[in-house]
Amino acid sequence: MKKIVLIGYMGSGKTSLGKSLAKALSMPFYDLDDVIAVEQQMDISMLFKNKGEIYFRKKEAQALFELIAKQESIVIATGGGTPCYGTIMEDLLKDQNNIIIYLKLSISLLTDRLWVHKDQRPLIAHIKTKALLEDFIRKHLFERSYYYNKAHHILTVNEADSTDAVLRSIMSKLF
Ligand code: S3P
Repeated sequence: MKKIVLIGYMGSGKTSLGKSLAKALSMPFYDLDDVIAVEQQMDISMLFKNKGEIYFRKKEAQALFELIAKQESIVIATGGGTPCYGTIMEDLLKDQNNIIIYLKLSISLLTDRLWVHKDQRPLIAHIKTKALLEDFIRKHLFERSYYYNKAHHILTVNEADSTDAVLRSIMSKLF
């Protein structure tokens, strides 16, 4: 049973691409943040606020490996931090049934995308200017790239790429 696992920074399009990919492959789609929000009966911002990030990271790891254990082939969109904590990336890579795809976007494209959608993201909601957001992303992405770059496939996504074009590139890597 294959698990196609999309990883990448916040704003890289894991959820929307994951949905399209799952549809194209006729597989069920799971968005990890949504799974956690349903389980915890709280959105991710509230969860961070009420229970803290460490609690969230524990639930995130649990929810991910519950999905990985499913007896069906599925597509999973992770959260931006998911592969960067504990031994998650190592554990994902050990299991031959997992296919991990990193959606790689430039810092400037991530900044543009996240600037307009930062309020619902607890790690960046407090950042006041676009320049500060760009600084934050530069440092954070540098730390996280160590994990992201271990993916089986690295897919560079440019501003001009349509969802269909990105989907075709993913398909060409998979088959
Ligand atoms: C996080 C990314 C978010 C969500 C949480 C933490 C992160 O998911 O899991 O806010 O650490 O990068 P998205 O990448 O879907 O925004």
